[in-house]
Amino acid sequence: MPESEIRKGLAGVVVDYTAVSKVNPDTNSLLYRGYPVQELAAKCSFEEVAYLLWNGELPNESQLAEFTARERAGRALNPVVKFAIDALPLTTHPMDVCRTATSIIGACHPLAEDSSVEGNMAKAMELFAAMPAVVAYDQRRRRGQDVVEPREDLDYSANFLWMTFGEEQVPEVVEAFNVSMILYAEHSFNASTFTARVVTSTLSDLHSAVTAAIGALKGPLHGGANEAVMHTFDEIGIRSEESLEEAASRAKTWMEDALSQKKKVMGFGHRVYKHGDSRVPTMKAALDKMIAHYGRPELLGLYNGLEQAMDEAKAIKPNLDYPTGPTYHLMGFDTPTFTPIFVASRITGWTAHIMEQAAANSLIRPLSAYNGAEQRSL
Ligand code: COA
Repeated sequence: MPESEIRKGLAGVVVDYTAVSKVNPDTNSLLYRGYPVQELAAKCSFEEVAYLLWNGELPNESQLAEFTARERAGRALNPVVKFAIDALPLTTHPMDVCRTATSIIGACHPLAEDSSVEGNMAKAMELFAAMPAVVAYDQRRRRGQDVVEPREDLDYSANFLWMTFGEEQVPEVVEAFNVSMILYAEHSFNASTFTARVVTSTLSDLHSAVTAAIGALKGPLHGGANEAVMHTFDEIGIRSEESLEEAASRAKTWMEDALSQKKKVMGFGHRVYKHGDSRVPTMKAALDKMIAHYGRPELLGLYNGLEQAMDEAKAIKPNLDYPTGPTYHLMGFDTPTFTPIFVASRITGWTAHIMEQAAANSLIRPLSAYNGAEQRSL
């Protein structure tokens, strides 16, 4: 096979149809089931978007009421999962905690091997409802704090923050978190979603597919980038007494130095978008509100300085992980919790793709071109 026919990283290869979302890098647009993600982020709750991704349409009032009731009923931390998390060292990476929890939830599930439409829908719903408790409790136990029980009077995002911090958050903060959850929910055939589809294509079960997807999301070239962005900010140094301009100038110098050493700076660049990530303006607006709410202009200085220096040197634009990292930091999340938040959101997209793959399945099994030793004898 000629070298030119091999598409490293499957770059540019279209492997299947999907009706879940459409990414158009030319117009910088992202549609979930036909709706622009910016509109969904402005007008919908995360629950409505989850319903949309799974069912193809937004819920009417009674459908939303039923959906919301099921989600609220499934929020408590499963005791078997709590027992397992407690057995893990405090040094376990939170993504490994999410992966392990998903695996346990699957292993204990009465419908574990049921991959019918109804079985998958029920399991997707339960996992979606259950994951905030896992993410929240893992951060709390690392801080020496106990479980916070869920609140049925709060929506998904408000309850997620409640279970994490044990305090009700003001509406602006809940809103910014809700926006991030909607923006992270779905993005066509990204690496973790493709992983979930590969596993599903073997007729394996939903929890196995999500567990594998979490493994793929963990890497810094994918979801792990939102944590890596915060490590960059920390390396440059967050100085709360500094002005926006001073912080921007230090960040520019840091970026110029990093690029001169040919470093890859996380939170920039994208395999599909080459002129900017469609989700960034919406998330940046949410970050701006959080910077104003918490009174932390120096973080905007770092943000602007890095972005400008990268643009001037390489014209590479930020991706969604760039504004979410500092947003979650401002809200009080520990950096290792950032990618697990992404998991809690992307469960919706992954499971929508799992159901779509299962409905029109073909085993995913590409070919390789052999370039090892010629045939030889012992
Ligand atoms: N920092 C510095 N340089 C970058 C860069 C970054 N974040 N992203 C891309 N580049 C450069 C590469 O070094 C390469 O330069 P070269 O041609 O001089 O070698 C060029 O841009 C093309 O990059 P490449 O990695 O081949 O593009 P890709 O489409 O395979 O990669 C990513 C896409 C996302 C893997 C890549 O941009 C990246 O590693 N970004 C950082 C990780 C990240 O933020 N991931 C989250 C994605 S949502």
